[in-house]
Amino acid sequence: MCYAIPGKIEAFDNKLVVVDYFGEKRKAYNELDGLSIGDYIYAQGGYAIAKIPEDEAKSILAVWKETFFDLQEVDLKLSRLNLNQESVSKEFLRILDNAAEGRELSREDLRVLIKEKNKPALELLFKTANFLRQKHHKNSCCVHGIIEISNYCRCACAYCGIAEGNKQITRYRMSQKEILEAARQAIEEHGFKTLLLQSGEDSGYRIEELAEIVRQIKANWPALIFISFGEVGLDNLKLLYAAGARGLLLRFETSNPKLYKQVTAGKDLSSRIAHLKEAYALGYMIVTGSLIGLPQQSEEDILNDILLAKELHAEMYSFGPFISHPQTPFANNPSASAEIILKVIALTRIIDPAHAKILVTTALETINPDARREALLAGANSVMLNVTPVKYRPFYSIYPSRAHEKESIEVQIKDTIGLLMSLGRSPADLSV
Ligand code: 5AD
Repeated sequence: MCYAIPGKIEAFDNKLVVVDYFGEKRKAYNELDGLSIGDYIYAQGGYAIAKIPEDEAKSILAVWKETFFDLQEVDLKLSRLNLNQESVSKEFLRILDNAAEGRELSREDLRVLIKEKNKPALELLFKTANFLRQKHHKNSCCVHGIIEISNYCRCACAYCGIAEGNKQITRYRMSQKEILEAARQAIEEHGFKTLLLQSGEDSGYRIEELAEIVRQIKANWPALIFISFGEVGLDNLKLLYAAGARGLLLRFETSNPKLYKQVTAGKDLSSRIAHLKEAYALGYMIVTGSLIGLPQQSEEDILNDILLAKELHAEMYSFGPFISHPQTPFANNPSASAEIILKVIALTRIIDPAHAKILVTTALETINPDARREALLAGANSVMLNVTPVKYRPFYSIYPSRAHEKESIEVQIKDTIGLLMSLGRSPADLSV
């Protein structure tokens, strides 16, 4: 199964290669040795990750050529925008028109959008975001894999089911061998080209062990590796980068320093932000965002969250709903609604139309099973499938009853491809 279409190298431009996909040109950083013009490669997240033999590339492209343009047409149809709607206020339409035209919106405009409750108006907001997604990103949709390698965590965040204080869950820590086997399956058998390794803040692995795992994956299989081990510190970020990790997923959870301190049992937002800035300076692609629906979080906080993620150079945005977990101090706080997350996704697309990859989070799908489709039609263009061995998945219970928890990876892939095709999306990751 392929998630990225092979591209043909047209030219070299310093450290970049120019790659052709059925006439579309994209650029990717070249970290591979011995590439020449005319070679076929896979590119992921803006990196050339593997050379593909010409015969193999041509047969994959022959299959894709049939569907590539058909899909683009379906997507184009679904993302058409008509801002003539009598049931929506002139003011709201003016803001959406400015957004669709690529003009920067004022803070006041963003407030109007996030406060809107009227269904026809929200439909138009989502359609505007979808229009911008199509305009800037065409129909490509990232499909990455995530391996949750350990659920040990030394943190005491009040919202999180795997926080140290929860003595009722079974803890697990995958061995190096298990992680490499899960990575092998994901990359070799299922065709994933980007893998995220995630854990709680687990002191049970030495950083050298984690670096060795990244090195081993890179040495054996072609993939782009993202890490999400919490705040590991600058030196460890350097080590992991040197081992081959190129992306960092770290949510700042909330941009409100006071709220952050409250919900994380006294941690400092500034060190989280510093960590994200250091990672960016080292060359990591940044995946960040926040938890929406935390107790006492305001709409202003949420707007600030989106703006902060952009300021931190998010390559991919990850905003998910808070979901109440019975074994946490926030057990009695209500979960967020799917609607607010769709608004946040649409606003993110409007605030960062050309660059944002926006993730549909599993948490969103957990509160609304149709949310993946809805979010992909509201500005999102990225999904992550869980390739953790099924036996460990129930224990990574950051919130209860996670969507897809029991689904084999084969089923997840089949459903995802089916959905993407129905929306005219191509499961590819071609952009820089
Ligand atoms: N509901 C939703 N998301 C949660 N996370 C932790 N606990 C919850 C919860 N109860 C998210 C945090 C963290 C990510 C790995 O999981 O945002 O960064």
